[in-house]
Amino acid sequence: MGTSEQGKPDGIAILDFGGQYCHLIARRVREMSVYSEILPCDATPEELDALKGVMNLKGIILSGSPASLRLKDSPRLSEGVLETGLPVLGLCYGHQLIAHLHGGEVRRGEKREYGITEATIDAPEGVLKGLEPRERVWMSHGDTVFSLPDEFQVQAHTDISPVAAFRHKTKPLHGLQWHPEVVHTQKGKEMLANFVLDICGSKQNWRPTDSIETAVKEIRDAIGDSKAIIALSGGVDSSVAAALAAKALGDRLVAVHVDHGLMRMNESDNVEETFSKMGVNLIVARVQDRFLEKLRGVPDPEEKRKIIGEEFIRVFEAEARRTGAEYLIQGTIYPDRIESGFRSGSDRIKTHHNVGGLPLDIEFKGIIEPLRDFYKDEVRALGARLDLPPSIVERQPFPGPGLAVRIIGEVTEEKLDSLRRADAIVCEEVEASSLRDTAWQYLAVLTDTRSTGVKGDERDYGLTVAVRIVESVDGMTASFSKAPWDVLERISTRITNEIPGVTRVVYDITHKPPATIEWE
Ligand code: XMP
Repeated sequence: MGTSEQGKPDGIAILDFGGQYCHLIARRVREMSVYSEILPCDATPEELDALKGVMNLKGIILSGSPASLRLKDSPRLSEGVLETGLPVLGLCYGHQLIAHLHGGEVRRGEKREYGITEATIDAPEGVLKGLEPRERVWMSHGDTVFSLPDEFQVQAHTDISPVAAFRHKTKPLHGLQWHPEVVHTQKGKEMLANFVLDICGSKQNWRPTDSIETAVKEIRDAIGDSKAIIALSGGVDSSVAAALAAKALGDRLVAVHVDHGLMRMNESDNVEETFSKMGVNLIVARVQDRFLEKLRGVPDPEEKRKIIGEEFIRVFEAEARRTGAEYLIQGTIYPDRIESGFRSGSDRIKTHHNVGGLPLDIEFKGIIEPLRDFYKDEVRALGARLDLPPSIVERQPFPGPGLAVRIIGEVTEEKLDSLRRADAIVCEEVEASSLRDTAWQYLAVLTDTRSTGVKGDERDYGLTVAVRIVESVDGMTASFSKAPWDVLERISTRITNEIPGVTRVVYDITHKPPATIEWE
């Protein structure tokens, strides 16, 4: 992975107490080119020791938590974690926990401290090295550390928190009541760098793309002489996982792309062309008719999703059985793994597996997840290094059930054709405009509303297409894009001119929430 003497990168373990910014801490450490892994808060010293297989562990960060130490069953550290000799930095709840474990006074303050706060830096040393006497920090806590035993030095305070930052006088223990990982803490990056680089002595020797050779070797070692199969949707994650697996296994990898006929313009052809060129052993299951048949006469969105999901599983299972693949490769990425409660070292091989969230009724000898340690932007960097084209590496999110959830009501071949053309126009115009760099997702929806129009000199009672362009960070919330009028005008003119039967184009000006990004 890295370039240190032992061939492993230096890294930091982050113990997750359930705080909403835990991922952000891991990201900030990686942005410094230092590897990081998130472990459950009760990870034992032995589990921390096991990280030595992938990194030179240099320090530990304790995350925040929605819990309160005043409650009996609030999350705690395992015995011995503070005594490993490694530097430890507690953030928010982690800060309070270190104080509490050493007999400090932690209790509910009279006031909560929330948002941007001015902190007075009393001792600009250690984690706070180089800071000004007053700094803007971001706080979010109800409990407060009011006092510490003499073995600690108080390094900062605010109007509400008398102990807003501390360090132990003889042990490598540090605490910050605020969140340095959040951008609103003005010198947050410097504080984390003081800890990770100076105090822990981490070398900046990790790059996501250094991991390609390690991942390839891991796949080879796990699969031996057997065959593996992957469901290749053409999305970023499955494409990068397939490219890595193909590098490891050559034609012992079988990639299956299910063309259910609900893809966008030329999408399946692009997947076929890209991966065939790379020499990947690819099966394209062209099963459009089968899906359309099943969807005939079904207007309900949830019913459509269910039919598509089940049919997808059946097609993939048939190919898996036919090829005799013993292993399944999945494009699971780091946030998926943490969110589904994965604990390091646990056994993932179960009777029902998952392909992009779909339960499979088939036994595999093992599941390999080569992207399990990477964030989305790191996966994109790997994809670029593996020579995947920008059309795949930079691909916008696309739902598994495809265009079916962008046609309101029953899906027919004719409607699919109209929507595919409208979607292609939206994509072309957005990608040719300034929105290219800011839009998270851009799409067309074929509504079931008809309205009167005039084409040529004739009256037409045609279909309405809705255009949706949104900005988002992670798809959980989104804002409609305040797109330039000329871009919207070009989209509208082209859709009504080029697609017969469409007489009206509307622009969706709803944020998420209250609306979702997709219409169904
Ligand atoms: P919503 O519509 O819930 O979508 O705001 C959030 C993000 O998820 C995508 N999406 C899906 N992706 N299978 C997927 O793989 C699905 O069934 C699905 N439904 C929505 C959506 O495109 C957006 O990026």
